[in-house]
Amino acid sequence: MSEQDSGQGQPWWRGAALYQVYPRSFADGNDDGTGDLAGLRSRLPYLAALGVDGLWISPWYVSPLADGGYDVADYRDIDPAFGTLAEAEQLIAEAHRAGLRIIVDLVPNHCSDQHPWFRAALAAAPGSPERARFHFRPGRGPGGELPPGDWQSHFGGPAWTRVVEPDGSPGEWYLHLFAPEQPDWNWDNPEVRAEFASVLRFWLDRGVDGFRIDVTDHLVKEDGLPDSAGHHGRPDPWRDQEGVHAVYRDWRRLTDSYPGDRAFVAELWETDPERFCRYLRPDELHTAFNFALLRAPWEAAGFRQVIDATLAAHAPVGAPPTWVLSNHDTTRHVTRYGRADSGYGFDRASRHGLPVDLELGTRRARAAALLTFALPGGVYLYQGDELGLEEVESIPDELREDPVWLRTGGVDRGRDGCRVPLPWSGQEPPFGFGGEGSVPWLDVQPKTWRELSVAAQSGNPGSHLELYRAALRLRRGHPGLGDGPMRWLPSPEGVLDFTRPGGFRCVVNLGQEPALLPPRPEILLASGELQESPEGLLLPADTAVWLRHRDDAPQG
Ligand code: NOJ
Repeated sequence: MSEQDSGQGQPWWRGAALYQVYPRSFADGNDDGTGDLAGLRSRLPYLAALGVDGLWISPWYVSPLADGGYDVADYRDIDPAFGTLAEAEQLIAEAHRAGLRIIVDLVPNHCSDQHPWFRAALAAAPGSPERARFHFRPGRGPGGELPPGDWQSHFGGPAWTRVVEPDGSPGEWYLHLFAPEQPDWNWDNPEVRAEFASVLRFWLDRGVDGFRIDVTDHLVKEDGLPDSAGHHGRPDPWRDQEGVHAVYRDWRRLTDSYPGDRAFVAELWETDPERFCRYLRPDELHTAFNFALLRAPWEAAGFRQVIDATLAAHAPVGAPPTWVLSNHDTTRHVTRYGRADSGYGFDRASRHGLPVDLELGTRRARAAALLTFALPGGVYLYQGDELGLEEVESIPDELREDPVWLRTGGVDRGRDGCRVPLPWSGQEPPFGFGGEGSVPWLDVQPKTWRELSVAAQSGNPGSHLELYRAALRLRRGHPGLGDGPMRWLPSPEGVLDFTRPGGFRCVVNLGQEPALLPPRPEILLASGELQESPEGLLLPADTAVWLRHRDDAPQG
């Protein structure tokens, strides 16, 4: 799988459908309750048959799991709970044989406090080369008892933690934009740059097809780490943009010395579409997760505005847009779309526990899948999207593990509810996640998931899973889908209607009333049942349809 393109003269990633695996919760191969590489390897045929082009694997590295694996203690090895490096190598080879690309998660903003370099920094003196790889500073105030600056952690509380010096005295403070167990690397330090170049080479040598880069825009901090000046208590990453570019230019050069075409997928928190796209350059970061649609409430005009702004901002930088409905950090979209307020702001606090109409959410999730799979660019699916899983909001507090929950004092319920182990088969938990009698690390699978398991849905033509399979198969086989142009067609209020080259049309009804479809439509796929009426075929509310389109006017 090292060839340059997708068979259409374009790099493979420009229009790819990538499936996010959160290894801990995907499939448990040794029945110890934790998902692992053995489980993932055994499910590669499932993923290949689903019709995705590749996998993005959330961190599988050695980690104390203070932040679900985004606290890496060894970037060159697999956590023993997940398996071994040899298994990871086998997995990459097997995935390639099955036609699946592999994108690994790179976490360069911070490591784990158990990383040997951070432990060495704690053991060394202030001002030492070991401390210079991180952001250590003396505290403010007469005894240094106040944090060196006002930055706040994304997980709540100050972004600075004070250390005890090796002689037992209260000492310097170090920076962590996330949990205290995740010290931020100092990207001005040449040793840090060299180390990550070596880590990149390590995984390129093992044949990975790309990198998903965690917290892409926070890496390089503004000189002097100045107070936030009101920027939500955080540094404004925009100020350090050129520094960020320099890092990714170096990585790009390094990667280009390998044969084949490898993807750099950025996780960007920027919400302004133009600023977002200025991070993307053909010789640096290729493409980034676009969370704008994920934030938008279920409403046609807002969706259209997001789609138009996304396309307009991406066009000048030559990057393909991406579409994301859920990931391991967000409330699952079946739940979001089942609420009266279906918008999302990455905060669970304001909406947690509000009533959810799961049937409505599921109907909309099906329509949203057809919409996003039809839009120009790439798509990212999160494990369980294809099963129509909802967020598990009823987790007992004592089972919650997410540092977001812990560090906000329970105000934000955290992200555990979207990380519940997947249901594969059977009538009772653990639903085939592990063997019968094994207990998943987060033992809260709802009983209703017996109907949502892979086995229960397979072969059932009306199921969520079969809709995903059919849609991904059509998407892959249709030359007009994935990367490329689209053209809006006039549509009534509440309806989105657009075409893609090669005679493809997508109509989505986000309104309240059924919408009349064009006369004698040739239907490729529908997310729900269409209704007959004397005027013609109707597309019910919260439903999407793919049609064969005859008029092939030029696409914008
Ligand atoms: C973004 C990741 O998606 C999230 O899970 C993690 O907590 C933060 N970055 C910090 O690494």
